[in-house]
Amino acid sequence: MIDTVDSRILDRILDRIQTAPTADNCQPWQVLVSDHHLRILEDPDRSRHILNSKGAISALSFGLLLEVCKIAAAEADCVLDARITVGGPTWLDGRIDPGSASPEDRALAPMLDRRTTDRRPFGREGLHHPVLDAVQGSAKGVRVAVTAPSDALVEYLVQADAIVWREPRIASDAHRWLRAGLLDPSEGLNPGNLGLPRPMSWLGAALPASPALMSLCGHLGGRALSGDAARRQLRDCSALVAFIVDEPGLDALVAVGRRALRVWLQLTAAGFGVQPFTMGSTLLHNQRAGLLPAGFRLPQAVASGHALSRQVFGLGPHQVLAWLFRTGPAPSLPKRLRTGRRSWASQVPGMPGAMPGARHC
Ligand SMILES: Cc1cc2nc3c(=O)[nH]c(=O)nc-3n(C[C@H](O)[C@H](O)[C@H](O)COP(=O)(O)O)c2cc1C
Repeated sequence: MIDTVDSRILDRILDRIQTAPTADNCQPWQVLVSDHHLRILEDPDRSRHILNSKGAISALSFGLLLEVCKIAAAEADCVLDARITVGGPTWLDGRIDPGSASPEDRALAPMLDRRTTDRRPFGREGLHHPVLDAVQGSAKGVRVAVTAPSDALVEYLVQADAIVWREPRIASDAHRWLRAGLLDPSEGLNPGNLGLPRPMSWLGAALPASPALMSLCGHLGGRALSGDAARRQLRDCSALVAFIVDEPGLDALVAVGRRALRVWLQLTAAGFGVQPFTMGSTLLHNQRAGLLPAGFRLPQAVASGHALSRQVFGLGPHQVLAWLFRTGPAPSLPKRLRTGRRSWASQVPGMPGAMPGARHC
């Protein structure tokens, strides 16, 4: 067995880390690598979003990233020994060393390249597929439950998504990454894969990110169009996959992110597409955990989601829905519709032009 990590292995691990999903593809981190030592710091500007004011979305993204790091290390016959800090500037501080990883991690590793967010229609086969049974169950404070997209749940999620148009500050934060994707394919969202009518996607991305303009566009029909698109997406799927926690809070969200990444890879391996549907769950979780921004009040139609989710998922009195995916069989997303990633040079501070694996002391 080798006892040092070859720099090419480290480069490969870093390439895989780069594939981690983030909200709006904001990629809110900086990566420091020195020999075996890996540190990942949150980039506060890139993670700025009104709904992330108390770190809830970062906690979720960080959980996903941590599992990507572990599985990427496993693929290279290495293990990651990491200290993680929720809510601090350094998310992850760890070492990558040669070592034998779990067979499960090694089996999931090839899916890191194939995993993507797919906003197209999926097959509507219902809940009768072994992978939907396989991903369900409770572990480490997170329960995964699978349900059919009932009319009541679909309408609730459409209402929750419409909050974007009611709250111009949320719209302009999200729009920042839509516009970024139009200007630079390595940043933000790919307007070709939004699930909205094409002219609306491109027009929306081209608008300046102004809260007042977003509000006007909402009144002029943006709200109805995006509601229709979300309704179609939710009906054109086989199942909704819910991540439920016993104790809401930032630690719980990291645990949800970790579990969700594994479920996402399992679904990918089974030929299922996945699209997170975040607003409906995040608003409920954050309200329960006190993580909503100051002064933010949920409209009644959205607050009623607590009662609905309790009924649909059989939640206990303290349990809360923390994240939600829609899923169903789907051919793989063509490469041109996938979202891009920043080059490593822009993620390694103080290293202009640095290549993956660049040393930073
Ligand atoms: C915390 C989080 C929340 C997300 N919420 C949504 C969402 O509500 N709707 C959606 O279509 N995609 C959502 N996404 C998917 C991201 O937009 C996607 O991961 C990112 O654009 C990178 O694309 P990729 O997943 O195809 O690599 C979310 C991702 C994360 C990590």
